[in-house]
Amino acid sequence: MSARLSAEQTIRLTPEETKALWEAASDLTRSEDVAELDADGVTELACALTPAFPTRLLRALHRHRRGAGHDALLVSGLLPADQEWGPGPRGSAEPLTGPAQAAALCLLGVSLQLGEPFTFSTFYSGRLVQHVVPVPSMEHTQTSESSSGMLDWHVEDGFSPDRCDHFGLLCLRGEAAAHTRFVSARDLELPDEVREVLSRPVFLMEPDTAHEMADRSPTATAVLWGPAEAPEICYDAHYLGPAGRPDGEEARALRRLAAELDAKRVEHALAPGELLLLDNRRTVHARTPFQARNDGTDRWLLRTMICSSLPRFREHGVRVWPSPHGAVGAGRYGGTGAAPHGATTSGDGAR
Ligand SMILES: [Fe+2]
Repeated sequence: MSARLSAEQTIRLTPEETKALWEAASDLTRSEDVAELDADGVTELACALTPAFPTRLLRALHRHRRGAGHDALLVSGLLPADQEWGPGPRGSAEPLTGPAQAAALCLLGVSLQLGEPFTFSTFYSGRLVQHVVPVPSMEHTQTSESSSGMLDWHVEDGFSPDRCDHFGLLCLRGEAAAHTRFVSARDLELPDEVREVLSRPVFLMEPDTAHEMADRSPTATAVLWGPAEAPEICYDAHYLGPAGRPDGEEARALRRLAAELDAKRVEHALAPGELLLLDNRRTVHARTPFQARNDGTDRWLLRTMICSSLPRFREHGVRVWPSPHGAVGAGRYGGTGAAPHGATTSGDGAR
């Protein structure tokens, strides 16, 4: 039995607030073609939306940013629920067109309250805002382009020490069968001996297939570590494996964790206009299967990733980072590309 988002994890804009924000975003797209802007340009344009955000949304986002909440925040009514979006894109990396440009600005405007939006050049052509749509032939992959296959428990880019701190999923078009699931690491109930095994930075995480990159070497990581009241987690049901024997204590600890994730899951089917923000250092997420129609009317989300550490963001020097294996960070991890990043924390400037 799954749980639902709590009242503390949800904020709903009034119809008047939604209308005012949408008009402000639409005005911006009338003055500039978002598709013509580079990643910095579109982010800067989205900054102009801040005055259109209700104060209580800004306060809720600040609570989420400082980790005082429940590691997830659902913003309802960020977009008008009755907006016509037209046919959906055919792939994750298609350019933003029509009213989806204004929606992308709303997503980036909110994201800027949590840090700096960024992406990797290896990920869907380096688009700062990606479409999350089902793609023919990808139905059973472990990517956001899947549909009829279960997208199993994972964190975004768990193989990378530079993975995002937060990410946002903004729903333009919903799908009743597609439930987004998540679990906060702080809600996991595990025996101390299992926690101890999972805290060892010896598990191996491979890059997922959404990244187009030559170096697909695995990264060493811990799975669950940190203080009991706010632990961090790095997990993937498909790409993470035990360093030791398949019947060893590390493998058993992973199986115990997988069962606990299923037991503690929170589940929500995103509806039009809703934005789900998840802390990617403290939650694991998944998506249930659904049937794609492939006729332009399928489920359609916009996604962006957020770096909440300004020093780490500035270290890269650009908004589209060249390598998730950490070209900048190679020196930090001895140049091996194998970062025992469970031993670090994601705090601002901690890396
Ligand atoms: Fe994901």
